[in-house]
Amino acid sequence: MDSDSWLECISCHEKYDARKMIYTCEKCGHLLDVKYGNLETALDGDWKDKPISVWKYSPFLPRLKNVISLNEGKTNLYHCLNLAEKLGIKKLWVKNEGENPTGSFKDRGMTVGVSVAKSLGNKIVACASTGNTSASLAAYAAKAKMSCVVFIPSGKIALGKLAQAMMYGAIILAIKGNFDQALELVQESCEKFHMYLLNSLNPYRLEGQKTIGYEIIDQLNWQVPETIILPIGNAGNISAIYKGLLEWKEIGLIDRIPRMIGIQAEGSAPIANAYKKGEREVTFVEKPETVATAIRIGKPVNWEKALRAIYGTERGMAETVSDGEILEAQKMLARTEGIFVEPASASTIAGLRKLIMNGEIHRSERVVCVTTGHGLKDPDTAIKSCEETIQVEANIQEIEKILSEIIKKPVEAYAIE
Ligand code: F0G
Repeated sequence: MDSDSWLECISCHEKYDARKMIYTCEKCGHLLDVKYGNLETALDGDWKDKPISVWKYSPFLPRLKNVISLNEGKTNLYHCLNLAEKLGIKKLWVKNEGENPTGSFKDRGMTVGVSVAKSLGNKIVACASTGNTSASLAAYAAKAKMSCVVFIPSGKIALGKLAQAMMYGAIILAIKGNFDQALELVQESCEKFHMYLLNSLNPYRLEGQKTIGYEIIDQLNWQVPETIILPIGNAGNISAIYKGLLEWKEIGLIDRIPRMIGIQAEGSAPIANAYKKGEREVTFVEKPETVATAIRIGKPVNWEKALRAIYGTERGMAETVSDGEILEAQKMLARTEGIFVEPASASTIAGLRKLIMNGEIHRSERVVCVTTGHGLKDPDTAIKSCEETIQVEANIQEIEKILSEIIKKPVEAYAIE
């Protein structure tokens, strides 16, 4: 790794060598950031003309000799006219991170995180996960010829994610507890067994994820939207996007940062609760609950960085949504725009809807919702929340009987001009 980057404590600003395998400050225990000494040199580079992808933005990422990549990033930014009209705003985009190789934004973090793990000579990588992190880490570890151990909350991760981690060959420990307990346990185990931790506590993961913000601005032809909305679970992603945009602002590539809005599920909302009370500290939720299992987290490790993002941007904020609102929003996005996302991702649309209704988001505001994971990750929840299929005999008379009930208009009314 480049000698011009280092790790720095976000609280006491103690600096550490970029190659040091630590995840929190040895002096005060706070979180670490990756810092760079030479970002201005990027202003002269030709990287801007290249097609978007995580590694397009390598002038803002750790310099690595060998990169473990599955061709991540370059997800579509959909201009959502149908949904915008339904919700009553003018300009709405969805950045669909479900289009990444393993179906979630975690791949952006893992291409950097696993490359760093490999370059530091590690043989085993590990994480705790509500599902997507484990799926992504398992895939990148396979590509990197490394072993992978994942700790998941038993019975509480969506089936598609479990299938992925299994198929990519991870060793899976299904912990009889929740995600927060699994995360504490994996941290202890990493120390004892020399495993490299790739949860978002690892600051290199966040370096990869900050490219979501870079791609959004690139795809909007270097126009900065007013608002970015995304779900908060362990609070890494909101922190990552904010850090990346702050770096761009500091060197003058953009002149302002969009307001960051984080959405949490009502039953798992330590950060939104803190924001609503105007607090700078977070009270953890002991028994988090929500249908959006990806964000069923009560003790988000990156809470301090997330509050920095929320309070650090003008009109930044956090909001809660109910499980019912999440499931309704999931359907609404699928049925107006043809975009199928998992429940955690749909929380952004539910949040957007709530904030438009209470006047917090204005009609003319340019809003980007980040949908973080693919809908097929959690088929069970989708099937449960949709209308039942119609069982019918394989017989044309039966079918005609049913269709004439459902489709009341004559055939000509549907003819395509
Ligand atoms: N959306 C999805 C689909 C996720 O999987 C996660 C986190 C989040 C949002 C929240 O992001 O943690 O950066 O605030 N999933 C983690 C996991 C915890 O283990 O897969 P965050």
